[in-house]
Amino acid sequence: MIGIIGGTSLLDSGLFRNWPKNRLDTPYGPVSVAAHEKALFLQRHGYPPLPPHKINHRANIRALKDLGVTKIIAINSVGSLKIKNKPGTFVVPDDFISIWQVPTFFDDEMQFMIPRMDPDLAEWLYEQCKALKMTVQRGGVYIQTTGPRLETRAEIAMLKRWADIVGMTMGSEATLSMEQQIPYASLCSVDNYGHGIARVALTMEEIKENVMANVKQIEVLIGTILAGNLP
Ligand code: HPA
Repeated sequence: MIGIIGGTSLLDSGLFRNWPKNRLDTPYGPVSVAAHEKALFLQRHGYPPLPPHKINHRANIRALKDLGVTKIIAINSVGSLKIKNKPGTFVVPDDFISIWQVPTFFDDEMQFMIPRMDPDLAEWLYEQCKALKMTVQRGGVYIQTTGPRLETRAEIAMLKRWADIVGMTMGSEATLSMEQQIPYASLCSVDNYGHGIARVALTMEEIKENVMANVKQIEVLIGTILAGNLP
């Protein structure tokens, strides 16, 4: 069983509308998961949607684990820190920095895990995107900020030295998935340039337009994955 985690861009997606929704209780709180014969869909922000800094990542990942998910494909919205990663394109990252937020399931016990993203699942996801002729980069470093606001120019000038893309969710999800030993790969949708990366100013309209354009491609990708061979 694969788990698909989507963000705000998929809130109104027709793709999952007919999938029956089940509410599940976890030790970290309730989660709503939509089920299909071969996959589960989890809206990471929940219903009604929580802002990024309030997302209950532990409940989300624990719910997928309890439901028998053995692989997670996540869709994460990001800002680009590099001119070459244009809005309207995608990145499948192979590493991340998330040192300001490190959620854990191991609050009270000594447990260690190897902090690395799953290369095989990422490669598989990248190949699926390529087959659909999506503009996608294989590899790159994601850096997580806490949100909910976007970053200042000075913050972006600092972050771009360390990473290729910036978002508010993937580091936390990837960390918790590793702790549960669930391979996790992300398709990052580049929805805007970070503040000051491009000469034109960042506008919310620009972000919304890019989100809409990318979500169509994401829906085709997920539809194709579900109709074909799952990882
Ligand atoms: N910064 C942080 N998170 C984001 C951005 C951004 O520019 N775009 C989409 N998610």
